[in-house]
Amino acid sequence: MKNSLVTFFASIMALFAVTACEGTGTGADTDPDRLVVGFAAIEMGSDWRKAQVASMQNEADRRGMELRLSDAEGSQDFQLTALRRFIAQQVDVIVLAPVVEAGWDIVLEDARRAGIPVILVDRTVNVEDPGLYVSAVGSDFHEEGRLAARWIAGNVEGVARVLEIRGSAGASATTGRREGFAEMVEELDELELAHSDAGNFSGEEAANIAQTYLTANGADSVDVIYAHNDGMAVAVANALPEAGFTPGEDVLIVGVDGSRVALQAIVDGHLAATVESNPVVGPQLFEVIDAVLAGEEVERRIIVDTSVFDSSNAAEAIPGRMY
Ligand code: AHR
Repeated sequence: MKNSLVTFFASIMALFAVTACEGTGTGADTDPDRLVVGFAAIEMGSDWRKAQVASMQNEADRRGMELRLSDAEGSQDFQLTALRRFIAQQVDVIVLAPVVEAGWDIVLEDARRAGIPVILVDRTVNVEDPGLYVSAVGSDFHEEGRLAARWIAGNVEGVARVLEIRGSAGASATTGRREGFAEMVEELDELELAHSDAGNFSGEEAANIAQTYLTANGADSVDVIYAHNDGMAVAVANALPEAGFTPGEDVLIVGVDGSRVALQAIVDGHLAATVESNPVVGPQLFEVIDAVLAGEEVERRIIVDTSVFDSSNAAEAIPGRMY
């Protein structure tokens, strides 16, 4: 495990160098015989995203393939531009982590016409023709919402009133985590949605929502804050004391991702739980890429394993965490 962690973090450092040089991904292939995978990433700012790309870079390196990376800095327009550039460059495979679900039909049709298979990673798209991509590798966001809800219902006495802080609008991660949670609110008597607001996967916005809501309504108004990712959950935990509230006492905080920082916050008593949404998908993704390039049939949907961490198991998960 130690060696794989060292390799992994070395990849992260190498990636910093690559993205810093390439910016939005204009890199040209230096070896014409190498297979090229064009990856339209959403952004590279968070540890979660860095771990995702590092795991892909590791796998590309192992196979002697080029991972041509484009950092869209959170913009769908930049992602569309990157896809068009990959098509023009005739890469062998395109991997897309779509920032939002809608708006991909035309460019994916262009990729298909150019004979370039597209594989989705992490988030998914809504397209008229499902044949526009060959496979989607990532977490089941609906299940993550359901798991968060079940943990809350099982760990709060009586009816748990929840303040939900959503991710960015239009992202399948947000839709799934919201809908899965809402399903459980319908089903379980122990769960009540007190309020829901859009934190846009921004720690700053999430902290502001939580502080404002609790200040206006008092600590007795909610039992749990459910944030759609750990970045927001940890930011809320850090910000609440400034507004006079104590995480873990006045309110429990539940995140999604299972990041190292969140696990540590659980150990420290600031976070109650986190639902794992693992970005280290390189091995699974490149198996699909290999199969696609070999002309084999691949599964349409490959779900990454998930689990829930709380004070019963967070500490033991920290040493192996890659994000
Ligand atoms: O799409 C996955 C989500 O996006 C991750 O939970 C989050 O950290 C990121 O912003």
